[in-house]
Amino acid sequence: MIEKMKFTVPVLLATALLTGCHSTPPPTPLAQLNPQQMRGHDAFQTKCAVCHYDRRTGDLHGPSLLGVFKKPALPSGAAATDERVSATIIHGRNLMPAQGNHLETGDLEDLLAYLHTL
Ligand code: HEC
Repeated sequence: MIEKMKFTVPVLLATALLTGCHSTPPPTPLAQLNPQQMRGHDAFQTKCAVCHYDRRTGDLHGPSLLGVFKKPALPSGAAATDERVSATIIHGRNLMPAQGNHLETGDLEDLLAYLHTL
C-alpha cells in the first residue's frame, strides 16, 4: 500500500500541476446568479476589478480570482477559506490595500457569495 502511494501521490500532484486551473469547474453563468451573488458581482466590479480578473485567468495588479474557492489554496498558499479571504479583503495583504473602509454593510458577505461562484 505504502509502496503504491509512493508512485500514486507524485503522479497525482504532477497531474494537478499540469492541468492547473483547467481542472476547476467553470464559473456559474452570470444569468444564473442569485440576488446576493449578483450584488457581490456588482461590488466586485467597483472594488476589486481594477486589480483582479474574476472570470478569466491572468494577473492584473493582483492574481486572477477565477476558481478562488475551488482551488485548495489561495495564491499565497494559505487555505482558501471564508475567514482568510475576508481578512485579506478587510486588512489587505502586501501590495493589496485594505478594503475594509470601502465596504458598505453586507458587501463582504455579498463578495464572498460571488467569489464562491467563480
Ligand atoms: C489596488 C489593487 C487591489 C485591489 C483594489 C484589490 N486587490 Fe486583492 N490583491 C492585490 C494584490 C497585489 C494581491 C497579491 C498580494 C500578495 O499576496 O502579495 C492581492 C491578493 C488577493 C487575494 C489572494 C490572497 C492570498 O492569500 O493569496 C484575494 C483573495 C484578493 N486579493 C481579493 C480581493 C478582493 C475580493 C478585492 C475587492 C474587495 C480585492 N482583492 C481588491 C491587489 C488588489
